Amino acid sequence: MDAAAKLPPDRTGAPPHGAPGLRVHELEVAYGRVRSLRGVSLEAPQGSVVAVLGANGAGKTTLLRAVSGTLRYHKGAITGGSVEFAGAPLTGLDAAAVVARGVTQAPEGRRIFGRMTVAENLRAGALGGASRKATAEARARVLDLFPVLAERASQRAGLLSGGEQQMLAIGRALMARPSLLLLDEPTLGLAPLMQQKIAATITEINAQGTTVLLVEQNAATALALASHAYVLEVGEVAMNGPAADLAASDEVRRRYLGEGDADEAAEADTAPRPVLTRWAG
Ligand SMILES: Nc1ncnc2c1ncn2[C@@H]1O[C@H](COP(=O)(O)OP(=O)(O)O)[C@@H](O)[C@H]1O
Ligand SMILES: [Mg+2]
Repeated sequence: MDAAAKLPPDRTGAPPHGAPGLRVHELEVAYGRVRSLRGVSLEAPQGSVVAVLGANGAGKTTLLRAVSGTLRYHKGAITGGSVEFAGAPLTGLDAAAVVARGVTQAPEGRRIFGRMTVAENLRAGALGGASRKATAEARARVLDLFPVLAERASQRAGLLSGGEQQMLAIGRALMARPSLLLLDEPTLGLAPLMQQKIAATITEINAQGTTVLLVEQNAATALALASHAYVLEVGEVAMNGPAADLAASDEVRRRYLGEGDADEAAEADTAPRPVLTRWAG
């Protein structure tokens, strides 16, 4: 019996179906004395797309860093709780070990290597120990998902458009053939048409069997893609449920989907912010 099945779904917010994939339990993260995540529990069963929504500063990137083993590069640390993938602990592993367990991240701000070519960027994402055949298959999958990367293979990555750079960042993360792909605001700053393209590709990546944990400020896009969603507020899970239920909830519509009258919008705008002033003081 898997660990996830033992926990009552109302405590973990676990979607009812699916093999154990990512399981974050009562996670605490701090950057020095600043506590950024408090008691965060979340599940993304294998095969799912799960979204994490939240305002700027809510802790979305921190959550992904905790999963991907990259907190240490930002002077952060897990101070409590656990992260598991496919039944094995990830807590405390370094980034390379997490990648070896089948979990990769396309970082926020699409940090690609601008001076390297598109092809070199993709090669950098391949696993060190992977066979040539495995790497070639991974590259074929990426170029099939993003044909423009094949057209631009020998161009410097820094010359790509914002949307193409995002495609490259996702493509690079796929080169390690992950079971779980972590995406940090993949549509941020992109034109609506490009946002739609990226969203369609995320659906396709998932349909090919990759579990996706999608972090977004763009709640409309995220809720359309995900089966289940969590809302982070000031480092805590404020709400979670089936994406359709959240999309229908008045609070989510008002605070994250930009609906409601002007007064409500102003209220919603100030409500998630105390986090910033609290930490400024
Ligand atoms: N390297 C860091 N050092 C100190 N505080 C940080 C660091 N990175 C993020 N934080 C703080 O942690 C909180 C959560 O940030 P982050 O995870 O980036 O939120 P989000 O991705 O939801 O915008 C913010 O208040 C932010 O200021
Ligand atoms: Mg972020």
